[in-house]
Amino acid sequence: MRVLLIGGGGREHALALSLAADPAVDQLIAAPGNPGIAAVAELREVAATDPAAVAALAVETGADLVVIGPEAPLVAGVADAVRAKGIACFGPSGAAAQLEGSKAFAKDVMAAAGVPTARAYACADAESAARALDEFGPPYVVKNDGLAAGKGVVVTNDRDAALAHAAACERVVIEEYLDGPEVSLFVVTDGEAAVPLQPAQDFKRVGDGDSGPNTGGMGAYTPLDWAPADLVDEVLASTVHPTLAEMRRRGTPFSGLLYVGLALTKTGPRVIEFNARFGDPETQAVLALLDTPLAGVLHAAATGTLATLPPLRWRPGAAVTVVLASAGYPAAPRTGDVITGAERAGIIHAGTARRASDGALVSAGGRVVCGTATGLNLATARTRAYALLDGVTLAGAHRRSDIAQAAAEGRVRH
Ligand code: AMP
Ligand code: GLY
Repeated sequence: MRVLLIGGGGREHALALSLAADPAVDQLIAAPGNPGIAAVAELREVAATDPAAVAALAVETGADLVVIGPEAPLVAGVADAVRAKGIACFGPSGAAAQLEGSKAFAKDVMAAAGVPTARAYACADAESAARALDEFGPPYVVKNDGLAAGKGVVVTNDRDAALAHAAACERVVIEEYLDGPEVSLFVVTDGEAAVPLQPAQDFKRVGDGDSGPNTGGMGAYTPLDWAPADLVDEVLASTVHPTLAEMRRRGTPFSGLLYVGLALTKTGPRVIEFNARFGDPETQAVLALLDTPLAGVLHAAATGTLATLPPLRWRPGAAVTVVLASAGYPAAPRTGDVITGAERAGIIHAGTARRASDGALVSAGGRVVCGTATGLNLATARTRAYALLDGVTLAGAHRRSDIAQAAAEGRVRH
């Protein structure tokens, strides 16, 4: 099988490693890719959010399967353009990707499907925003309605800061605060059948102890030994199947990866958000433990044959990934700094690039690399992940020191 992977972040590097390791894949092409992905795939340039350009590249490369990593191409309708050429594509249509593209749309689908989530108001002006904030009380949750790469949400006790964020958004959703540990559940779907991956936990805040602003994610681990044994079944029944049914009913079935971001509240799991693609950096940890060859799974989802797929196989033990972020991330990430020690197994490249003048590896984004490791238990996996990052140098870089620590020490409560 010839696979074309669209994207060039840490998630795509992790996807590329799994796809390249699948014996059914004899050629892997990534566009635009990154210097880490270049070790396992042929890189091509493409404007990833241009549907016609991606579809043309899929035709030119003779791809049997196109896998779209990031949300922006999905929302732009890239999957529709690829499928229109008769090529199998893993990723939802532009219409279905609105589950991530618009918080208000997602809330509307959840309401119609009876999915447990936070109560919310879409507010059009400062007055209605203030009313919603006061109805729910602190902590205030204020979300930019559009795509914001995981950074459009402010959670704060400061009413003025909440109002200021609301004023800065063109359209804003204000919602009730959900209290409880967060879980990321990835579900591969062809629109009807749903195959859950192992749940993971992400660390969204920039600093230790969940301090500081939200980021795209500073680290992740799997499995969640502390979570209820029936969590996945409960979420499939309460959330995933009703959502897929509602999307079919609307004539816009969702196929691809449905990312269910949950809070395990005292009254059960509730949806914080849907995403229309693999999460980053959870994917780096989850795929490190997936034993079933990935391309076959994604191809089955893309061709509507997921129901015939044998159950997924998982490696025993745990996986941890820790992000090394550039100076200034998330507010104003500095780029162009030289990175050393990053070209080795276990280092996943996210925001890296080759400097044109001399080919040196340099930072090119906020989240630069991740150290990803497995082990028989969480404690071993996290020690190894941190040891991997200890071998990387990048001026001004920062990382959290407590990724997976509470879980490894049996301190996660719900
Ligand atoms: P989102 O982009 O919707 O995933 O939000 C980013 C992060 O903000 C989430 O991972 C949570 O940590 C936090 N968050 C969002 N909505 C809520 C909520 N209703 N209650 C508590 N925390 C939230
Ligand atoms: N890790 C959070 C996200 O991918 O949105």
